[in-house]
Amino acid sequence: MVNKANPKNKIYAIEVNNLIKNFGNLTAVNNISFSVNEGEIYGLLGPNGAGKTTTILILTTMLSLTSGNVRIFDKDIINKNIIRQMIGIVFQDPTLDEDLTAFENLDFHARLYNIKVNKKQIINNVLKLVELEDKADKQVKSFSGGMKRRLEIARSFMHEPKILFLDEPTIGLDPQTRRKIWDYIKKLNEKQKITIILTTHYLEEADELCNRVSIIDHGKIIKTGTPKELKSSFGGDIILINIEKKQEFKKILLNSAFIKSIKQTKTGLEIIVNKDGTKLIPKIVELAAKSKININSIALKQHTLEDVFISLTGKNIRDSTPDASEKMKLKFGGRR
Ligand SMILES: Nc1ncnc2c1ncn2[C@@H]1O[C@H](COP(=O)(O)OP(=O)(O)OP(=O)(O)O)[C@@H](O)[C@H]1O
Ligand SMILES: [Mg+2]
Repeated sequence: MVNKANPKNKIYAIEVNNLIKNFGNLTAVNNISFSVNEGEIYGLLGPNGAGKTTTILILTTMLSLTSGNVRIFDKDIINKNIIRQMIGIVFQDPTLDEDLTAFENLDFHARLYNIKVNKKQIINNVLKLVELEDKADKQVKSFSGGMKRRLEIARSFMHEPKILFLDEPTIGLDPQTRRKIWDYIKKLNEKQKITIILTTHYLEEADELCNRVSIIDHGKIIKTGTPKELKSSFGGDIILINIEKKQEFKKILLNSAFIKSIKQTKTGLEIIVNKDGTKLIPKIVELAAKSKININSIALKQHTLEDVFISLTGKNIRDSTPDASEKMKLKFGGRR
């Protein structure tokens, strides 16, 4: 059988082939194939019910598959014990013991993973990375949602896993806390060389963090690529200029190599460029100044992953972002 995700038999951190998961009549994961390179941050981006958590649970040996094949560093996930030593997980639903302190939660995890040498130091180090070292002896029930999530991330890499699975690492958190968590994830990836696969329905999270993203909807992968590739499939950036001498400036611009197309609007010009728009704005301003043409205002509009998602699925991902009840689920424990 042709191995779709791995035609050259390369060893990937994660390799998924024709994965299917049925729950009764419902196909939650519908024949997906993808592979994650060692050292990558890989995102599964999709709305509620897309099949992200189901995929993660199968990859982490928590849930059986209906058909297909999954390998972690070339080991079939059927070898549960070997796989579990290689991975760390942050589940979508919280799994901390609220009555224990931060330190005790991590100590419990250390016992499960048989960490004996330098245990105290390891716990202190991971607490430091997520900036919770001064909260070590506080009961988790006194923590904010963001602090709890940070503690779960700290716990997930205590046993030095080769791959981290993060299921909605920032769900329901405020933008500032979300940014902090992005920083920790980047640090883990860069400094500790951990391969990371995360699920999210925050487009900006996928854009900011992931080397590559698979957009998943109704259990199927509908597109995979780097955020840049996905966004550039729309063509170049758009520069909007408010200007009076439209015709005159259009003629000047048409001689420039970086222009893809120019449209006249009521207030000026809409230019589609074939390069990074941020770098072209000074050039455009300079061209206008040279020709003594006055620009009233100039603005850049870049395509986002939101545009990509809408064009691929015909809907806005925010139509299905977590509502208050989802946040409550995160706070008080979930369905699984
Ligand atoms: N244990 C289960 N039994 C039956 N159906 C399930 C079970 N777990 C998930 N499903 C269904 O499978 C589909 C995919 O669910 P999944 O939790 O994987 O989605 P998701 O992409 O993680 O969504 P969310 O963004 O809400 O976390 C949904 O229709 C869900 O209702
Ligand atoms: Mg989920």
